Amino acid sequence: TPDKEPPAEGDILVYAEGDKAGQPVKVSDLDESPTRVYPKAGDVVKNGDPNNLLLLMRFPQGELKEPTELDATVQGTVVAYSAICTHLGCQVNYKDSDGTLLCPCHSGNYDPKEGCKVIGGPPPRPLPQLPIKLEGDQIIASGEFLGEPYTG
Ligand code: FES
Repeated sequence: TPDKEPPAEGDILVYAEGDKAGQPVKVSDLDESPTRVYPKAGDVVKNGDPNNLLLLMRFPQGELKEPTELDATVQGTVVAYSAICTHLGCQVNYKDSDGTLLCPCHSGNYDPKEGCKVIGGPPPRPLPQLPIKLEGDQIIASGEFLGEPYTG
C-alpha cells in the first residue's frame, strides 16, 4: 500500500506525532533535539512502515561536517536521518548529555554531526541520511536514502 512506500523525491516531511501530526514541518520549529517526521506523498502519510520514521535536526551553521552530505541538507544546517537503528531496527533516541543518537536496544551510538557515523555499539553502518531541500517554506525529500536503511 502507498503508506508503506519508502521516502522518495518530492515527499513533504510532516510531523509524526503531537498536535501538528500530519502537518508540514517548519524550519523555525527545529533545533538539535530531533523532531520525528514521516514523508508524505500527495494525501498519503507514509506511516504504514515503522522504518519510514525520520529524524530532522537543525544545527548552527558550520557544525555539520563530512561525511554528512552537506549538499543534501537545507542550508547546511537542517539534516534528515532514518530514526531506525541499522543493527536490529529499534528507534534511536537523542542523548542530551552529548548530542548523539543512542539506540536503547544494544547501545548503538551515532554522531549526527558527522553523517550519523557509528561511534559505539554493534550497528554495522551509519543511519542513512535522507536528502532534503526547501521548497517554499516546506521541507521536502530531494531523493532516496543515501546509504542503506534498516530493512529487516
Ligand atoms: Fe540498535 Fe541493536 S538495534 S543497537
